[in-house]
Parts: sequence; C-alpha cells; structure tokens
Amino acid sequence: MSVLIYPGSFDPFTVGHLDIARRASRLCGTLYVAVLPNPDKQSAFTPEERVRMIEACVQDLPNVRVECHGGLLADYYRRTGAVGAVRGLRGARDVQYELEQAMGNRLFEPGYEVLFIPCRPDYSWISSSLVREVARLGGDISNLVPAVNVRRVRERLFAGEQPSED
Ligand code: COA
Repeated sequence: MSVLIYPGSFDPFTVGHLDIARRASRLCGTLYVAVLPNPDKQSAFTPEERVRMIEACVQDLPNVRVECHGGLLADYYRRTGAVGAVRGLRGARDVQYELEQAMGNRLFEPGYEVLFIPCRPDYSWISSSLVREVARLGGDISNLVPAVNVRRVRERLFAGEQPSED
C-alpha cells in the first residue's frame, strides 16, 4: 500500500492542517504526519508535544500515524518509503515557497515528489502564527484549532505555562 507523508512544523496543528491530513489519508494506504523542525521558527510546543496533540486529532483516521523527525525532510522521505509528500496550498503566496522547498528536497532526494492539496477557502487565512498570536492575547481560538487541543493551546500561550520536559 502506498505511503504518503505530510510534513510540517505544526506549531500548533490547526483545523486547516487537520482538513489536509483527512483528505490526504483517503489517497494512500498509510499517511505519516511528520513534525519536523523549521530552523527559522521559534516554537511554542516541543516536537513531542506536537505529536501528542496531532495524535489526539487523528484518532478517527486509522491509517494515519504521527511521528517527529529531527533532520532533513529528504532523509525522512527515504526512510518511510513514501511515494509523495503532501502540502496544503492556501493561495498564491504559498506556491512560490512550496516550489522552492520541493526543488530543494529533490536535490537531497531525487525521487522526492509532492502533492499539493488546495485548502478549504474558509481556512485559507489560518496559520499557526495567527493561532499563537490570538491565543497569547486571550482571543477565541475555537475556530482555529481542533476542539481537542483548544485548552492545551490556551494554557501554553495565554496562561504562560512552560513547555514540558519530554
Ligand atoms: N492550514 C493552516 N495553516 C497552513 C496550512 C493549512 N492547510 N498550510 C500551511 N499552513 C501554514 C502553517 O500554519 C504555517 O504557518 P506559520 O508560518 O504561521 O507557522 C505555514 O503555513 C507553513 O508551516 P508548515 O506547513 O507547518 O511548514 P513549515 O513551512 O513551517 O515547515 C517543513 C516545513 C517542516 C516541511 C520544512 O521546514 C522542512 O522541510 N524542515 C526540515 C529541514 C529540511 O529538510 N530543510 C531543507 C528543505 S529543502
């Protein structure tokens, strides 16, 4: 059965990410949602915390596994035997960035292929940094992150709870 991976920093995983994961899971035998570091971003949640939060969101998707990987995406791609990586596209701004990422990954893994899934129009304005900003200011994030993680995100970002040592 074919394997797809859905890599991202997912800090935190949003309703938009969940929609892409759900739709991608219908296209393959196994979907690995992979938490990878984005060295340009300072994170609010540890990779292990993000894995647990994503797992809580995909419990109804039996062919989805969640992992974290500390190195290059190309190495993870090779290790899983994936036939493609999935990335959501929210609009034209994402296209240029995603094309550059795809070309970069093909340098490290010539077999790297990527499937772009257009996001739902009503989710096209959502990003993890928007979630972090709204949560830090005490705003309502219930339409931005899956219900199971709303409290967790609020506790970390609004109440100023420290990351747990995993
Ligand atoms: N719904 C909601 N938000 C979405 C989205 C969707 N469908 N699609 C993208 N986004 C948002 C994310 O919320 C995130 O927002 P932010 O910038 O405010 O945090 C942004 O778009 C992109 O984040 P994400 O999809 O999580 O990926 P990323 O760009 O942070 O990281 C990696 C991409 C992890 C795949 C990349 O950094 C990577 O490959 N890292 C490993 C190191 C490596 O191999 N580098 C060489 C690459 S050539």
